[in-house]
Amino acid sequence: MTAPLPAQSLSAVAARLRSAGCVFAEDEARLLIEAAQTPAELAAMERQRMAGQPLEHVLGWAEFCGLRVAVDPGVFVPRRRTEFLIGQAASLLGPVPRPVIVDLCCGSGALGVALAAAAGRPVELHAADVDPAAVRCARRNVGPAGGQVYQGDLDGPLPAGLRGRVAILAANVPYVPSGEIGFLPPEARAHEPRAALDGGADGLDVLRRVAAGAARWLAPGGYLLSETSERQASLAEAALAAAGLTARVARSADLEATVVIGRPPVS
Ligand SMILES: C[S@@+](CC[C@H](N)C(=O)[O-])C[C@H]1O[C@@H](n2cnc3c(N)ncnc32)[C@H](O)[C@@H]1O
Repeated sequence: MTAPLPAQSLSAVAARLRSAGCVFAEDEARLLIEAAQTPAELAAMERQRMAGQPLEHVLGWAEFCGLRVAVDPGVFVPRRRTEFLIGQAASLLGPVPRPVIVDLCCGSGALGVALAAAAGRPVELHAADVDPAAVRCARRNVGPAGGQVYQGDLDGPLPAGLRGRVAILAANVPYVPSGEIGFLPPEARAHEPRAALDGGADGLDVLRRVAAGAARWLAPGGYLLSETSERQASLAEAALAAAGLTARVARSADLEATVVIGRPPVS
């Protein structure tokens, strides 16, 4: 905030956020005060938050793997648990110079950008999403990292020149079973597009389609990584195996994260 606020503002903002049900009211108040340029803007941000908008949409960014990733309203907010997928992917990046990384179903592009940063060397980064709002947002994040973002259905818009060259295909696809969307927190249900959440009857429709196409993009020794839930893990593993990939599951108890990892069989 450029204009000074009265000293009692932090506690007053926190108290109002708390009364609206924000659990981390003090931290959120601090972030809103930092982000607002004027008291009027702060009041507007507070109202949006108290009306249930995700904090990240109000601020315009989310913290992911230590980075500030731009997140526009209507775009899926990258989750902290997905940092586990990035750790797994980074550990699987071989010694290849300038590895090719593809972030499918990229939303804000957080995964691609975080993986590019974690790689610790130049990478060739590509991302794609079907939703124009996500693509616009991803371009703001992926562009400065030197990557390209495409709009279209799954791998449809990827350049053919990537075939057989991809070291990491990260795909945080929608994986909530359709019948369970109603049980998600209201922030997700009301402020994230259904297409970003709904994975079909058993939650695996999109993953099956990604897995079916993965082998044609992956380099020898390349990997597909996709987040899933603990409960869906064995079905997700079977979906990758059905697509001809050698599959396994990795879990983090700390982040309550489950990732299914596949690679073409070594011949
Ligand atoms: C769970 S969100 C993940 C976004 C981002 N990867 C992240 O973790 O922050 C799923 C994303 O998949 C996209 N999506 C859903 N169906 C798609 C499809 N058929 N083709 C491309 N993208 C799709 C949605 O628009 C949404 O951005």
